[in-house]
Amino acid sequence: MGMKVSIIGPGKVGMVLAYTLMMKGVAREIVLIGSDRARAEGEAMDLMHAQAFLQVPVTVRAGELADTAGSAVVAVCASVPSPPGMTDRNVIAEGNAALFRSVLPQVAKAAPDTRLVIVSNPVDAMTWLALEVTGFPPARVMGSGTLVDSIRFRELLSPLIRIHPDDLRAYILGEHGEHQFPAMSVASAGGELIDDTPERRALCEQAKNLGIEVFRKKGNTCYAIGLAAAYIVESILLDEKRTIPLSVKIDGFAGVSGVCLSVPVVVGANGVERYLHPALNPLETSQFRKAAMAVRSVIDRLQHPPA
Ligand SMILES: NC(=O)c1ccc[n+]([C@@H]2O[C@H](COP(=O)([O-])OP(=O)(O)OC[C@H]3O[C@@H](n4cnc5c(N)ncnc54)[C@H](O)[C@@H]3O)[C@@H](O)[C@H]2O)c1
Repeated sequence: MGMKVSIIGPGKVGMVLAYTLMMKGVAREIVLIGSDRARAEGEAMDLMHAQAFLQVPVTVRAGELADTAGSAVVAVCASVPSPPGMTDRNVIAEGNAALFRSVLPQVAKAAPDTRLVIVSNPVDAMTWLALEVTGFPPARVMGSGTLVDSIRFRELLSPLIRIHPDDLRAYILGEHGEHQFPAMSVASAGGELIDDTPERRALCEQAKNLGIEVFRKKGNTCYAIGLAAAYIVESILLDEKRTIPLSVKIDGFAGVSGVCLSVPVVVGANGVERYLHPALNPLETSQFRKAAMAVRSVIDRLQHPPA
């Protein structure tokens, strides 16, 4: 598979993704596609001027949607602006739905075999819409989902149980938003279950609010999500088969269908190569169903806008 990555929306998140892919030497060609061509060209030039510092040269250029042709991955970070002080990601759903409906058919035409990594919010509804608009098979469309939330959760859990965050198999699942929850009943480290205590469960609430808190303080979040997106792209390009909580089309898990939500999936060259089915307890199962209803209502709103 080629090592070409297209990034639609070279804004704050898209550019951290581009920079990270360049620094890691994973992608060999990066195309930046924005609504402002001059701006995308400026970003591409800036990254090209760093090439002499790299071990692996990467070609970075600005392009149009047709230039996604031949991309192994197309990452979608394009977005309408978020209103200042935004506390609910769903307020940009209509705006980003219109954006997706204008942009993604052209991607599907130019790069019919690519894998789509959706970052734009509200990411679960947008992943669903991307599936609908492109008609791509579910294995080739995934949203960053609760990956950042899970990473924040592990970061908070780590000092409490004194184990490196990367060694904690602890997942936040469900919606990237209000209806996310920690799958504590299946959280483990070193083959031992991590005890489900109210204190640990409360860390999920804390992790959930951290994204919004950063947004309140600096007006956006870009580094954690940019690296999270790069981690997904790398797992595809290098066929790493990492287990990652991502927003994917749910087909019967916990009695839920017809919606995208985060569950742990295995990501490799083909995209989502395997769906894992953690044995959630009754509380977690009902939380997963609540998340499904919340995301479903956003999808319904996008499919049947009020007259
Ligand atoms: N999933 C997550 O965990 C997560 C975390 C942080 C941010 N986000 C989301 O990522 C998105 C981007 O955030 P940001 O801070 O980088 O925003 P930003 O405003 O800096 O960037 C948006 C980019 O989209 C581009 N764009 C707008 N319309 C376009 C179009 N029609 N075609 C191509 N490009 C277009 C703009 O040119 C700009 O480069 C937002 O929706 C944000 O909510 C998601």
